[in-house]
Amino acid sequence: MLLFSVTCLPTAILFADRHLPEVKTTAGVVRGRVVPAPQGSKVNEYLGVPFAQPPVGDLRYHDPVRLDKLPSDPYEATDHKYSCIQFLDETFGSFAGSAMWNAPNDLREDCLYLNVWTPRSSGKKAVMVWIYGGGFYSGSNALWVYDGKALAAHGDVIVVAPNYRVGTFGFLSTGDGKIKGEQKHNRGASSAGLHLMSARSQPLFRRAIYESGSPDSHWSFMTSLQARNRSRAFLRGVNCSRDDDADAILRCLRALPVDVIQSAEWVDSRFMVFPWAPTVDGRFLTDTPYSLMKAGRFQHKESLLGVNKNEGTFWILYVLDGFTKDGPSLQNRTTFKRGVDVIAWDLSEETRAQLKQLYRPTDDRGRAAAFRDALGDVCGDRSFTCPTWEMATTLADTGAPTYFYYLAYRATTEVWPPWMGVIHGAEIQVGPCIPYAV
Ligand SMILES: *[C@@H]1O[C@H](CO)[C@@H](O)[C@H](O)[C@H]1NC(C)=O
Ligand SMILES: *[C@@H]1O[C@H](CO)[C@@H](O)[C@H](O)[C@H]1NC(C)=O
Ligand SMILES: *[C@@H]1O[C@H](CO)[C@@H](O)[C@H](O)[C@H]1NC(C)=O
Repeated sequence: MLLFSVTCLPTAILFADRHLPEVKTTAGVVRGRVVPAPQGSKVNEYLGVPFAQPPVGDLRYHDPVRLDKLPSDPYEATDHKYSCIQFLDETFGSFAGSAMWNAPNDLREDCLYLNVWTPRSSGKKAVMVWIYGGGFYSGSNALWVYDGKALAAHGDVIVVAPNYRVGTFGFLSTGDGKIKGEQKHNRGASSAGLHLMSARSQPLFRRAIYESGSPDSHWSFMTSLQARNRSRAFLRGVNCSRDDDADAILRCLRALPVDVIQSAEWVDSRFMVFPWAPTVDGRFLTDTPYSLMKAGRFQHKESLLGVNKNEGTFWILYVLDGFTKDGPSLQNRTTFKRGVDVIAWDLSEETRAQLKQLYRPTDDRGRAAAFRDALGDVCGDRSFTCPTWEMATTLADTGAPTYFYYLAYRATTEVWPPWMGVIHGAEIQVGPCIPYAV
C-alpha cells in the first residue's frame, strides 16, 4: 500500500455555484460537491471521474487509452462508479475486519475511475496519490477507509485515488514479451516502489510513502519464468493457449465472459502466492527489482516506509490449520514446524530447518502462545518486514532522506482477536485518513 506525493499542481477551480465546484479539464468540465470534512472544514470532492477509456472489448488486456471527452459535459462526479473485477473475501461473512476490504460498489471491467479531494483555499498544493494494496488481485478506491477528505482538509493537500485493474485483467504476462500486462499505468499496491525503479515514472513524483511492502517482497513481483508458467496454466484453463500466438490468444481472451476469466485466474494456491504481479516487461521495468536495487538503479527520492508489529497474523489465520479468529489459536512444536514448512514452502529444506531453529520459542512459560506468535513472525518478517527494512536501508545508503516507522499500537477499536496483534493493514486505520473520518 502506498501513498506518494507528486509535484505541486495549481488548482483550477471555478465556482459555478457555492455548492457545486467545477474543474475544467482537457476532456470537459467535472462537477463535484462540497462536503464537510472533520474539524469543521469543507473540501471539494470529485468521485468516480473516468481517467481512461473503459478497458472493455478490444481494450481488455490493453494499456489504458486516453479519454478525450468525458461521457457528459459537465460530468457529475458525485458517486463512486465501479470497482475492478475481483474476488471478494467471504471467508468470515459480514465480519467487519474482513468485509471492510471488500469493494462496496459494483464490480465491472469498466473501472478506470479516480476520486479527488481538494482543499477549498487557493494557491498551489501538494498532490498525494493513494495506490491501494490488495496483492494485485483485489482493491478498490471506493473503500471507506480510503476516503481522502480528512487528509485533504487536515494536510491542505490534494488527494487523488485511482483504481487500477487487478488479477489477469491488470497483470497477465506471458513472460516472453508477447503479452505484457498493462503495467505502464498500473501502479500496483505494495510494490509501487517499482515506480522508483521505472524510468517512466521518475518525473511523476517527488517522494513516497510505502506501507508494509517493497518491490522486492517475494509476492510483489513475477519472474519471467513464473509469468510464463502461470500464463500457460491460465490459458490452458480458459482454452486460449493458441500455440503461443499472441494475437490469437488475445482474440480468444477478449471473447470470453468475465466470470470465465476470473474463475481461472487463481492458478497457484500456495502460501502467499498472489497469482499475478508485475514482471520485467522491458518498458516499465527493465530488470528484476532485486537487481535494480542491488545495482543502485533507482531514484534516490525521499521516502517514508514502515511495517506493523504483526504483519503475518492475517495470512496464517487464513491458511494454517489450527488458527481461528474466534479463539487463542495455540500451537505446539509439531504444528509450529509444519507451519514453517507451509509458509516457507519455496525455500530449501535446509533454510526451513534454520528458520525453525531461529524462531523456535525459548521461554518455558506460555509456550503454546509463543509457538503461535513465532509462526506469525516467520510469515511477517519474510513477507513484509525484512523486504521493507532492506529497501529502507538501501534507500538510506544513497543518502536520500529516509524515514522508517514501526506501528506497535493496537487500536482499541480493532475487531480481530488479541492474538493477531497489530495486523497487516492496521496502519490505515490510524493513518491520516481515518481518525477524523469515523
Ligand atoms: C514452472 O513450471 C515447471 C513445470 O511445471 C516447474 O518445474 C517450475 O518449477 C516452474 N517454475 C517456476 C519459476 O514457477
Ligand atoms: C475447454 O475445453 C474443454 C474440452 O474441449 C472443455 O471441457 C472445457 O469446458 C473448456 N473450458 C472452458 C473454460 O471453456
Ligand atoms: C499438537 O497439536 C496438534 C493439533 O492440535 C495435535 O494433533 C498434536 O497431537 C499436538 N502434538 C503434541 C506433541 O502435543
